[in-house]
Amino acid sequence: MSTRKNDKANKSKKAPTNGSRANGSRRNAGYGAVDPKIEDLAKNMEESAGEFLTSDQGIRINDNQNSLKAGNRGPSLLEDFLLREKITHFDHERIPERVVHARGSGAHGYFQVYEPMSQYTKAGFLQDPSVRTPVFVRFSTVQGSRGSTDLARDVRGFAVKFYTQEGNFDLVGNNIPVFFIQDAIKFPDVVHAVKPEPHNEMPQAASAHDTFWDFISLTPESMHMIMWVMSDRAIPRSYRMMEGFGVHTFRLINEAGKARFVKFHWKPLLGLHAVVWDEAQKISGKDPDFHRRDLWEAIENGDYPEWELGVQIVEEKDELSFDFDLLDPTKIIPEEIVPVQRIGKMTLNRNPDNFFAETEQVAFHLGNIVPGIDFTNDPLLQGRLFSYLDTQLTRLGGPNFHEIPINRSIAPVHNNNRDGFMRQTINRGQVSYDPNTLRGGCPFQAGMDMSGFTSYAERIDAQKIRERSASFFDHFSQAAMFFNSQSDVEQNHIVKALRFELGKVETIPIRERMLALLAQVDKTLAKKVADGLGLTIPTKLDLPLNMHVPADGDPKKFQPKRTKVDMGVSPVLSMLNNLGDAVKTRKVAFLVGDGFDDMSLLEMKQALLTAGAKVMTVAPHLGVLMGQDGEVVKADHSLLTASSVLFDAVYVVGGQASIESLLRENESTNFVLEAYRHCKTIGAAGAGVELLRAAGLPTEDPGVVVGDGDIKTLGAEFVEAMRLHRHWGRESTETQTGEQPLMINRTVTQESTESVQ
Ligand code: HEM
Repeated sequence: MSTRKNDKANKSKKAPTNGSRANGSRRNAGYGAVDPKIEDLAKNMEESAGEFLTSDQGIRINDNQNSLKAGNRGPSLLEDFLLREKITHFDHERIPERVVHARGSGAHGYFQVYEPMSQYTKAGFLQDPSVRTPVFVRFSTVQGSRGSTDLARDVRGFAVKFYTQEGNFDLVGNNIPVFFIQDAIKFPDVVHAVKPEPHNEMPQAASAHDTFWDFISLTPESMHMIMWVMSDRAIPRSYRMMEGFGVHTFRLINEAGKARFVKFHWKPLLGLHAVVWDEAQKISGKDPDFHRRDLWEAIENGDYPEWELGVQIVEEKDELSFDFDLLDPTKIIPEEIVPVQRIGKMTLNRNPDNFFAETEQVAFHLGNIVPGIDFTNDPLLQGRLFSYLDTQLTRLGGPNFHEIPINRSIAPVHNNNRDGFMRQTINRGQVSYDPNTLRGGCPFQAGMDMSGFTSYAERIDAQKIRERSASFFDHFSQAAMFFNSQSDVEQNHIVKALRFELGKVETIPIRERMLALLAQVDKTLAKKVADGLGLTIPTKLDLPLNMHVPADGDPKKFQPKRTKVDMGVSPVLSMLNNLGDAVKTRKVAFLVGDGFDDMSLLEMKQALLTAGAKVMTVAPHLGVLMGQDGEVVKADHSLLTASSVLFDAVYVVGGQASIESLLRENESTNFVLEAYRHCKTIGAAGAGVELLRAAGLPTEDPGVVVGDGDIKTLGAEFVEAMRLHRHWGRESTETQTGEQPLMINRTVTQESTESVQ
C-alpha cells in the first residue's frame, strides 16, 4: 500500500522518532581527553535512528516493498531508478578477500609508553607517558578464507596500527616469532603450498595435506617455525592470551642519529593459554567464531585485553656476535641472551562499529613507519615492503585507500599525489608538483628537526648477487632449542600434531622426508612420529635434504650445513611457564536443572566472580530454572546449544531434582566427560557427584573438586584448580615408544643434528 499521502507534509520534517546522529563522543570512554582517531572516524559515521529512508542521492523513499511495474501483475520497468540503484549496489558489495590472513577480527584501543624512550628512539609516540596513542588491531589466521574457522592450526596474525601524531606506524606481526622462509621470493610458494590444493580446493584452513608438507619437506629452513606451529601456540585459547612478535629485526634511531637493532614483542597480561587439538576441532564445529566472539564479548563486558610492548635491543657493535644472523627471520634472540624490556601497554577497549568499514578495509603495511624506527636488510622484510601496498591496490580497488577512514592518518596529509579511483580529497589550487614557485614551494619538505623522515644511512659496499649468507644455513639449532624448552606435555602435543598432520599426507615419500628432517631436530621426536605413522626414519634420501643446490654446485653453499650450536633451553618458550592468571575472564559452565540447591549455585558463583571468572548456566531447557529454596535463575544455554569445549571449567550444581533432570539428558554426561578428557577443572557439589559417577569420572583426580555442604571451601578449591589452566596428568601418554621415557633429552647432541644429504 502506498504511503504517498505523507510525502508533502513531511518533506521538511525530521522523521518522527528521537534518534540522533552518532557523533562519536560516547565512544571516548576510557580516554581522559578526546581520542583523535575517534574524532576522525566520527566524521564518517552514519546512524539511521530517527531518519527517513533515502536513495544514495538523498531522495526520500516512499515504497521500499514494491518495484515499479506496468500494472500490479505486469513486468518491472527499466525506469525504476530506485530498484536499479539498490540492486546495483548489492551486486557490488563484495571486495576480494586478503590473499593471506583473510579471516580476522579487529578492535580499537590505545597505547601508552611507561617511560620516555628517547635514549633509543626519537619516535614521538614513545616519549610521553601521558599520551595515549590510538591503535587499531587486527588478529587473523593465515590459511583459511574469510568465513573459515578461528580454530585452525595456524599462525595468528597480530597487526597493530598506531595512529601517531607523526603519521601511521604499523607493526604487522604474528603470534609466532619466526617464519617459514628466509627470503620473500619463497612467499608465494609457501602460501600456494598451504592453501587448499588448487585442483579440488581442499582442505579449507588446514595445513594437514600433501602440498604443504611436500614444500616443507624440501625447505629445511622452515623447521624452527614448524616446531612452533605444531605446538599449542598454533591453537590459542583466545587472541587475548597470545603473544605477538614483530618477527624481523628492526632499527631504533634516537635524536642523535644513533641506531640500535630491535625486536618487538607483545606480552599478554592474561598469560599464555591454548586449547587442546581435539577441543580445537570440536570448537570449529560448535562455534567457528570462537576467537572473534571471545574478543568481542570481552570488550563489551569491559574486560579490556591488555598487552605490554616489549623490546629486545642490540647495540650495532654486537650485530655479528650471535650464533645466528639477526637478519634471519627463522631465528629468535633468546630472551636469556637479550632480555625483553617492557616499555608500554596497549589496551583494546572498543569494538568496531562496522566490520566491513573497519576490520575488512583496514590496510596494514610494514612500510608504514615513523621517524625513529627503520628497517634492516632481512630479505623477508625487504620483500614485504613491496607486497602489502601492491596487494592492497587490488584488494581495495585503487591507490586511494589511505583515505578510507580506518586507514586515515590523524597527522595531516599534504602532498602532490592526485586523482585515481574514488578520490575523496579535494586538493585545491593550481599546483600539484614540486619544486614550485606558484605555491611558494608548498607543501615543503620537513627538516630532520621537524620530524622529517630520513632513512638510516647504512653503509653498503656489495656485489649484486642472488645468494644467501652462510650465516643463514643453520636450520636446526633453534628448532631443537624450542623443542627442548617445552615441558613433557607440550612435547607430547608436538608429537601428536605431527602424527596428525603427516597422517593426513597421502604420499608416503613426503612423510619419509619429513621424518628425516625431524631427525635433524631431535631423533626421539622423529622416532615417536615415525612410530605413529608406521614408518622408519630414512637414513638416505633419493633427493638431497635441501633442493636448492646453487647453480654452480659449490658444496660449501650446500644447505643445511652440519649444525654446530647447542643452544640449550629457553624456559620462557614454554607456554606452561607463562600461565599468568588462568582464572580472570575464564568461562565456567554451571550444569543445573530445576530443583537445584540454591546455596551451591550462589556461593560458587560468588567465589568465581570474585576471582574474576565468568559464569554461565547450562540446563536441560532454556527459560528459567527454579531452585529448591525459591531462587530463580535464567538458563544461558541448553545442553543442545552449548558444549564443554566452549568453556574453561565445569561445575555441577547440587540438588537431587536438578541432577535427576540433567541425568535424563545424554548430553550432560558427555559434557563432563569431554571436559575431563580436555583436562579441565570439574567441580560438583552434593548430589552433583552422581553426574560425575554416571559419566565414569574419578573423583580423586587433582582437577576434580567435590564437596558436600561447605561451598565456600569448595569454591576456593575450584578456583585454585582452575589456576593450573589444565590438569595434564589425565592425558594419555600413548605417544611414548617402547621403554622411552616421556621426558625427552634436554640437550642437543651432535649426533642428533647430523646432516642427511
Ligand atoms: C614475518 C613474516 C610475515 C608476517 C609476520 C606477516 C604478517 C601479516 C599479517 C598480520 C597480515 C594481516 C594483516 C591484516 O590483518 O590485515 C598479513 C597480510 C599479508 N601479508 Fe604478511 N606476513 C609475513 C610475511 C609476508 C611476506 C613475506 C609477504 C609477501 C612477500 C606477505 C604478504 C602479505 C599479504 C599480501 C597480505 C595481505 C594484506 C592485505 O590484503 O591487506 N607477508 N601479513
